[in-house]
Amino acid sequence: MTEPAAPWALLAELTHACPLHCPYCSNPLELVRRRTELAADEWARVLAEAADLGVVQAHISGGEPLLRPDLERIVAAAHRAGVYTQLVTSGLGLTAGRLDALIGAGINSVQLSVQDADQANSDLIAGRASYAAKERAAGVIRAAGLPFGLNVVLHRHNLDRLPQIIEMGERWGADRVELANAQFYGWALRNRDVLLPTAEQLDRAKRTVADHRAKARRPELVWVLPDYHEGVPKPCMGGWGARSITVAPDGTALPCPAAYAMTGLRPPNVRDRPLSWIWRRSGAFNAYRGTAWMSGPCGECPRRETDFGGCRCQAFALTGDASRTDPACALSPDHHLVRDRAGRAGREDGEDGAAPDFVYRRPANARD
Ligand code: SF4
Ligand code: FES
Repeated sequence: MTEPAAPWALLAELTHACPLHCPYCSNPLELVRRRTELAADEWARVLAEAADLGVVQAHISGGEPLLRPDLERIVAAAHRAGVYTQLVTSGLGLTAGRLDALIGAGINSVQLSVQDADQANSDLIAGRASYAAKERAAGVIRAAGLPFGLNVVLHRHNLDRLPQIIEMGERWGADRVELANAQFYGWALRNRDVLLPTAEQLDRAKRTVADHRAKARRPELVWVLPDYHEGVPKPCMGGWGARSITVAPDGTALPCPAAYAMTGLRPPNVRDRPLSWIWRRSGAFNAYRGTAWMSGPCGECPRRETDFGGCRCQAFALTGDASRTDPACALSPDHHLVRDRAGRAGREDGEDGAAPDFVYRRPANARD
């Protein structure tokens, strides 16, 4: 067996607990319970093993990682291991004192999420009042002088305010704004028909992004491909088992965060195996590595080394078979599954301005 190249990133999901209830969350519907979470000492071992394997960057995420009282110990362990750490947070609970402690522990940058530039709509999407706390958190991050990214998941209920969202990024002092068109896994898949944008909204949004890029260098805009509308699959995760390892709150190790929902994958757990074995030898990480597993149109396609056949989680979620060509690809025999949904987006929205019918991310909503 040829050895895979070293991973460079670790997504450390410390907890699935979160003060927000976003309907586009990519966490699994069955959220990991707090009593099964890895302890700080276990994370310290995982981070040291990750560094030995070649990982240079850890995204400290969740849920909301600030809910872990031992977060500073985990960040310090990453720092000791020589890993660059980015805190991925909703901002709720990010006081100047907490950020000082995290900087003392070695945090290197912060990515803050916000739901909209309009306070009422941001709070509606988050499922609770939170915009004001996020604005305060942005001030705390800016004052600390850390590299600061703002993440906004885009969908039908905020895309029309993209100019205001970019202006908010400027006003809050973000270095970059990630315009993350919703990807349909976990809770977002549950809410897909409410969230899917229209083609007209996306056309306007792309022009807004191009206009901003032509006239301003900051904040830098990152545009995440809205693959339901493009007919072109995204090179998901840079390829399966190619660059990144996700460790879920209970220690489950995955080639991708959304793979938690892939039944039959049998992912390993960092409590049972060292990360080096997981990366190099586990069936889950080798299942869709490279191109040998490809069949159907991907098998002969000149783009197979460019987009890696698209997204395995999306193929699984929409067809039940993770080895099929991503239905987002116009060449896929399953492409109608995304094309028809995207074409119907917004058709049944009323004119009455009623609030969208979100299924919020709450354990009680995990089942139909
Ligand atoms: Fe990519 Fe496969 Fe579509 Fe070719 S057929 S563009 S490799 S997803
Ligand atoms: Fe899992 Fe694309 S989200 S491979």
